[in-house]
Amino acid sequence: MSAERAGGQVALRGVVAMDGPSGTGKSTVSRRLAQACGAAYLDTGAMYRAATLAALRAGLTEQTPAEEIARVATGAPMESGTDPSSPTITLDGDDVSAEIRGPEVTGFVSAVSAVPEVRAAMVDRQHALIGAATGAGGGIVVEGRDIGTVVVPDAPLKVYLTASPEVRAARRGRQDAKAGRGSDMHATLADVERRDRLDSSRRVSPLYAAADALVLDTDLLSADAVLDRLRELVVERGLDG
Ligand code: DC
Repeated sequence: MSAERAGGQVALRGVVAMDGPSGTGKSTVSRRLAQACGAAYLDTGAMYRAATLAALRAGLTEQTPAEEIARVATGAPMESGTDPSSPTITLDGDDVSAEIRGPEVTGFVSAVSAVPEVRAAMVDRQHALIGAATGAGGGIVVEGRDIGTVVVPDAPLKVYLTASPEVRAARRGRQDAKAGRGSDMHATLADVERRDRLDSSRRVSPLYAAADALVLDTDLLSADAVLDRLRELVVERGLDG
């Protein structure tokens, strides 16, 4: 494999599993990798966020019994669009891409995504979307927390992105500012650390790197550098069509 070839147009076949906590640059590089490879892109975090928005709209809170959260969240009529140049997520037919990034959803999503029935329903939907994308020999980049460990344990390329909480909080702050959401650095850092704790310690499908995942620390790596490495890996693993 030559780096030159990896830098050119690469067509992806199969699944690239991208895991890691928030603020590691996962969404940016996953989308860009899918675009560069003519592949589909699935943001599974957006699915848990849409399920959480459905729970909030139904008036549920962290005090609501898990069975009721499961009933509302698993029944939420959502659709995920997997085009990496304009990924969408709808709830009841409305595009909720912006609303699911707000503080109410962010504050409640770890609790909703820890409910085993919610996870089972989301994983079923994810398998259907991944099957549709790969069925005719195509490829898909799937990002989340449990893609390489639970959703696609036999993915031919698994990457786990990490970064220090401070760097991740700073990235989140910049994203919030760009989206017109005010945020406080200390509160953002506290939220990043709280979600890490909850996502890593939940009983079902906790966040951790699969044993066969390539771990990339993005503290000192630009998105371009990570993308270059991923394109090389696609070629090295023979996933270019
Ligand atoms: O990637 P994100 O921050 O949009 O994800 C939102 C939440 O969803 C995150 O706190 C954990 C949860 N999540 C999950 O449990 N499993 C996934 N595959 C993706 C996200």
